[in-house]
Amino acid sequence: MATARFVPPHPPRDIAPGPMWRGFFGERARNSVFGWSQRAFSERHIKRHILGYTVHFVLDPDSVQHVLQGNAANYVKPDIVKRFGAALLGRGLLTSDGALWREQRRIVAANFAPAAVDALVPHFAAAADAAASEWRSGGTHDLAEAATDTTMRIIADTLFGGDPRLKTRKAMDHIAAALRAGGESRLPAILGLPSLPYNKVLWRGQRGRDFLRRTLADLVRDRLPDGGADDFLGRLIRALRAQFEPAEALALAVDNAATFYLAGHETTANAISWTLYLLSEQPEWQERVAAEAQAALSEGADDAGLPERLPTLRRVFEEAMRLYPPVPRFDRQAVAADGLCGWDVAPGDIISIWPWLLHRHQALWDDPDAFDPDRFLPERRAAQHRFQYFPFGGGPRVCVGMRFAYAEGLTVLAHWLAAWRVTPVSGREVRPVGYVTLKPEGGLPLRVERR
Ligand code: HEM
Repeated sequence: MATARFVPPHPPRDIAPGPMWRGFFGERARNSVFGWSQRAFSERHIKRHILGYTVHFVLDPDSVQHVLQGNAANYVKPDIVKRFGAALLGRGLLTSDGALWREQRRIVAANFAPAAVDALVPHFAAAADAAASEWRSGGTHDLAEAATDTTMRIIADTLFGGDPRLKTRKAMDHIAAALRAGGESRLPAILGLPSLPYNKVLWRGQRGRDFLRRTLADLVRDRLPDGGADDFLGRLIRALRAQFEPAEALALAVDNAATFYLAGHETTANAISWTLYLLSEQPEWQERVAAEAQAALSEGADDAGLPERLPTLRRVFEEAMRLYPPVPRFDRQAVAADGLCGWDVAPGDIISIWPWLLHRHQALWDDPDAFDPDRFLPERRAAQHRFQYFPFGGGPRVCVGMRFAYAEGLTVLAHWLAAWRVTPVSGREVRPVGYVTLKPEGGLPLRVERR
């Protein structure tokens, strides 16, 4: 579709990188997508020494593929990430490696098989409608908050038997605080210091984390000894108890409850928010996806086939995750020596993988900062490298919830856009801020109007 060129906001870029120490102060320390120079969007590999670590920023799709897929066995989750994530996620699926990771992945996989996910579409649709029932036509609502609220309800309903303790405003605020602090505690984690709450953000984060761990541990204990209902949590507890000693099984059940509760909703909420933001700025695209959504819903509002009837919305959703990847970076650590793009990798080196950088790389995309959902037309997609676009990672550790996220995101957006028109609030600028996930800073107030 030919429309005027639209370049949505991104942080300013210097021509060359500044001194390393600047990364530990001010906006650069707080916001992971701020402070990148143009070099990071044009080179293939950048190697830097940061506080005793050698860090390789891999900016070439072949290197990303090698690390995540080709030689995945040599690249594990870094010590820093484990240290940093341990207090909240323990040794759950996201933060474990080797045999423990493999066993946990096997245990949860069936819950995310296509048929299991497709059966959840009615939950996605009901949560979307419940959120929109609170909107007033002509009113301004924070749609980032609505998206987070909706995805939190969905994860609680679909994985944790709808437990009301996971659906409160308090739980939502605690999660936001824990993730916000996640960005700030990078420095102590890198330095190997205990994560002392030396400022308000970290203190709130620690309180949020403690609340979540305590609540989820209560939830798991209430289900003992047999796991209770036949839902994700029940099946997880039973499978872990069949495989591990009782104390270990209990610890891993809480770790995975925290992992799935967190990884499973904040990410999709951000993908939904960014899609709404882009559509609010691009009315022609919005009218087109709204018409598609209305036609798709007229054939059935919550059947398993709904997400497949939304090809245009899917392209916009994918373009939103290209421009604003919900997980802007993730890392690995080399076990043995290797080579990447002609650079030597030594055991212990950190490999830093940035969807944020590759998704906007000048050598990989035409007009990389411009909004163009048609990049994801099948014929154009076929010409791209598999690892130039990877919002869900790749290889054996690809996001286990990818199909869930697509079905959820598309269903929620279709229900909202078929019935409501969203427009920007004048004078308000949207700024992307990367803590652990990438979100619009200060929320996303948009004007909503019933169609
Ligand atoms: C738009 C939404 C989402 C995005 C962009 C996203 C992104 C990612 C990425 C990039 C990874 C790989 C990290 C790495 O390799 O280090 C990942 C892993 C993971 N994701 Fe997602 N995710 C999303 C939704 C979900 C949902 C809905 C769930 C669960 C219901 C989920 C659960 C997980 C888990 C448990 C892992 C760890 C997998 C493993 O290591 O085996 N994610 N996700």
